[in-house]
Amino acid sequence: MSVIERMLGRPDGPGDDNNGSLTIAPMRKRDLRQGILDTEAHAYPTPWSPGVFQSEIDQVAGGSRYYLTARRSSGTASGSRRSSKGRIVGHAGLWFTLDEAHVTNVAVHPDARRTGVATALMLALAEEAIRRECTAWTLEVRVSSDGAQELYRNFGFVPAGVRKNYYENVEDAIVMWCHDIQHDAYRRRLDRLGATR
Ligand SMILES: CC(C)(COP(=O)(O)OP(=O)(O)OC[C@H]1O[C@@H](n2cnc3c(N)ncnc32)[C@H](O)[C@@H]1OP(=O)(O)O)[C@@H](O)C(=O)NCCC(=O)NCCS
Repeated sequence: MSVIERMLGRPDGPGDDNNGSLTIAPMRKRDLRQGILDTEAHAYPTPWSPGVFQSEIDQVAGGSRYYLTARRSSGTASGSRRSSKGRIVGHAGLWFTLDEAHVTNVAVHPDARRTGVATALMLALAEEAIRRECTAWTLEVRVSSDGAQELYRNFGFVPAGVRKNYYENVEDAIVMWCHDIQHDAYRRRLDRLGATR
């Protein structure tokens, strides 16, 4: 059983609103209005528009992109719509270039944070990057996003540079890289991350 299967098979997370089981599945366009756009608006000063998401999803079939939606099967928090499959609580994506994967987006609804949703999404992205034979993955993160940087450090990302004024022409981005993701040591890191959630 993979790390992801183990994670998805258990109820997870503390608190009354976040004790349902988590499922992660490929993003569909209808997910946008069922919770993704809401999460996105809470997560970023400049959220992606529906058109950006649709363009990204359109590129999944060609293999250059990969997008996931996270849902909780139960919960009582307001702020996101639900379906019979559960309430959408987060989303994430990858862009593949040669033998590298670039994290394009990781966002979790504020009332579902610190319950392992981003970790589950990142584990699923890592599995896909490894399956596609990528040797490394990379991302940009706001200098002010301490929590996101901590999340990424957990996954072995280290700072490798700064893009000045990358966000809204005012905030710098830290460029982070994680290499050798095909190695056994990285598999052990993912197993540890999955086991602690
Ligand atoms: C960053 C973000 C995706 C984290 O999502 P999350 O589901 O709360 O993350 P997890 O519960 O999986 O957290 C895993 C670990 O990451 C670290 N972490 C996450 N959020 C943190 C925070 N606010 N402060 C400090 N550490 C944090 C912790 O080590 C945490 O483990 P712990 O809860 O056992 O201490 C979420 O806060 C978010 O959507 N932020 C706005 C959008 C954003 O900045 N995205 C990143 C774009 S580069």
